[in-house]
Formats: sequence, structure tokens, C-alpha cells
Amino acid sequence: MSEFKRLVFSGVQPTGNLHLGNYLGAIKKFVALQAESDCIYCVVDLHSITAQLVHPDLKNQIRSIAAAFIASGIDPEKHIVFNQSAVPQHAELAWVFNCVARIGWMNRMTQFKDKAGKDRENASLGLLAYPSLMAADILVYRATHVPVGDDQKQHLELARDIAMKFNLDFAEGIRQGGRGIDITVGEEPVHAYFPMVEPLIDGPAPRVMSLRDGTKKMSKSDPSDLSRINLMDDEDAISKKIRKAKTDPDGLPSELEGLKGRPEADNLVGIYAALAGKSKAEILAEFGGQQFSVFKPALVDLSIATLSPITSEMRRLMDDTTHIDAILKKGGERARARAEVVMNEVRDIIGFLR
Ligand code: TYM
Repeated sequence: MSEFKRLVFSGVQPTGNLHLGNYLGAIKKFVALQAESDCIYCVVDLHSITAQLVHPDLKNQIRSIAAAFIASGIDPEKHIVFNQSAVPQHAELAWVFNCVARIGWMNRMTQFKDKAGKDRENASLGLLAYPSLMAADILVYRATHVPVGDDQKQHLELARDIAMKFNLDFAEGIRQGGRGIDITVGEEPVHAYFPMVEPLIDGPAPRVMSLRDGTKKMSKSDPSDLSRINLMDDEDAISKKIRKAKTDPDGLPSELEGLKGRPEADNLVGIYAALAGKSKAEILAEFGGQQFSVFKPALVDLSIATLSPITSEMRRLMDDTTHIDAILKKGGERARARAEVVMNEVRDIIGFLR
């Protein structure tokens, strides 16, 4: 049985500052996957206008995400780095998926409910259709693997549902053109045009929590800047935020069991482990029995040692944007060529004249 060729795709929105959650939950994984896979990494600017329409500094926000990718170690020559709006095929496939997906599926998305808040009728139509565009981002390359943080899991399940429904609804067109691939989904054999994407969520830190409240996700939209470490923070800011991070009065336990019911302690140990490339158990073996007054300075040192080379390279890249702009332009051209091959097949499968 043939299989879809392994291809990694992921995206990051150019909204607000990138933080440690984005780095540990996503970008660090993007970097690691380059060694074993063909990868496409996208700055999803079309997504950024769904919740807030007008972004006065959008161009620089887009550049700064691309700069973070490159400063973290993504190779834009071997792989592809581009911004979504440069490849109109994303929006075109998203339109098709808007017609494949059901309104009920979109209404169930927890991120839509969170972002739309109480006044759902007043949210943009784009915010409701957001997951459909996300499915298109991935499937316009027929990508198979998607590294993300834990908060994107539901969106990726929806991408699988959309792919499955397209495969079934257009089974005839897919077979006629001889473009499908035989796969099994569960026990079912399916002649598929689109793969069932696999989320890559496990990793060093699939869910980094706020430094002010260990039960809330670290987020770009948290009003308190003390809740997150931004990739552009300087050493003093990192040190201050970790020193002020909420903790409980107890010291660190020696076993994982001892982190239960202690979300702040669990989060700081998780961050340390992810930065050090070790397991939480290894960190507890090292620091068990110690107070936070010992652990926090060690975490400050490790955070600065890991992040400051990335921050200074980002600053350097942002000082002269011609290099970043050239990378995005070339990445856009390469992505467009690949997406157009898929879109032509999709147009044929659906039966559009071209
Ligand atoms: P975005 O821009 O909100 O976040 C980018 C990536 O960072 C991860 N992340 C976290 N991981 C761990 N802990 C946290 N506190 C944390 N906060 C954010 C996110 O899971 C994500 O991987 N919808 C996506 C962007 C997108 C996309 C795609 C992703 C658009 N199209 C196609 C994958 C494939 C988003 O808003 O991510």
C-alpha cells in the first residue's frame, strides 16, 4: 500500500510578542524536525486578521516571526519559510473547505468560544472559519505531520474531519483522476486525496503555563506582561519575571508525584526541563529538597543562556529587514509553486473548468 510522503507543516500568527510557550511548544520542535523531514514553516498573517482586523505594524510583526524562526535555527534554504498571504492558494482551498465543513463543527471549537466571548454574533465570520483556513494551510501541500502546542489539538482533529469528508464526498472525482492514495483510517480502507494529518504535540513542553497563574496557559494576549517571557525580553526582564513568578511556600519535591496539585511548581520545573533538554524527573533528582530561592536563580541562568543568543540574532535580523524580506519572498515563490500543483488537482477533482 502506498503512503503519503512525509511532509511537516506548521504556522505561527504574527500577533504580539512571541513567548517561551511558542518557543518550547512549537519552534523548538520545528528546528528539531528539520533533520529528518521536509518542512514548511509559515507566518500565518491571514489568520492574524480574524480576531483583530487592523494591525498598525503588521509588516514588522510578520518579519519578526520569520526572524525568530531563523534565529532559532530553521534553515530557509533547505526548508521553506514564507508568509501565508503570499500564497493565495491557502485562501482558495479554505473556501472549498468552508463548503466541506459544517457550521456545527466550527461552533464547537473551544478557541472560537474563548476568543468570541459572550457576544458570539458579533465575532467576525473569519474567526468562525479560522480552523478551515488552518486545514487548508496544511493540506494545500498535502502535509502529513504538524508540530504544535497542546492548544491546537482540537483544530487538527477538525482538519482530519475536513480531509476525510473531502475524500469521501469527492471519492468519484479522486478515483477518476487516479490521484488518490489507498490508506486505512482506523479499520476502514479509504482512497484518499488528502492525508489524515498527524499532530506532533508531545515534546519538551506542550503546554507552558502563565508565570502568574499555573492554571492558565502562557499567552500573547494575557494583559500582564509578567505572565510570560517574551523572546525579545532582555536579561533583566527575564530575571525579574522569573523572580516574581508565583510559587507556593514548599520546596521542590524529589519525585514527580510531589508536583501534583502544585501547578506553579510543576510549570517552572517543566520549563527548566524543556530548556535543559532533560525530563522533569531528572530535574527533580537534581533539585529535590531545595527551596525556590535556589531553583529560581538556576532557572534564570538557564533561560538567559538559551534565549539570549536567539534574541540577539532576532535583533540583528530586524535591524536590516532586506535579508528577511528576501527570504520570505523566495519562500513564497517556492510555496506557491507547490501549492498550485495541489490546487490544480483539487480544481479537477471538484470539476471546475480551467
Ligand atoms: P499561535 O500563533 O497561537 O501559536 C504558535 C504555536 O505556539 C504554540 N503555543 C504554545 N505551546 C505551548 N505552551 C503555550 N503556552 C503555547 N502558546 C502557544 C501553539 O500551539 C502553536 O503551535 N492556529 C495556530 C496557527 C496556525 C497553524 C496552522 C498551526 C495557523 N495555521 C497550520 C499549525 C498548522 C495558532 O494560532 O498558533
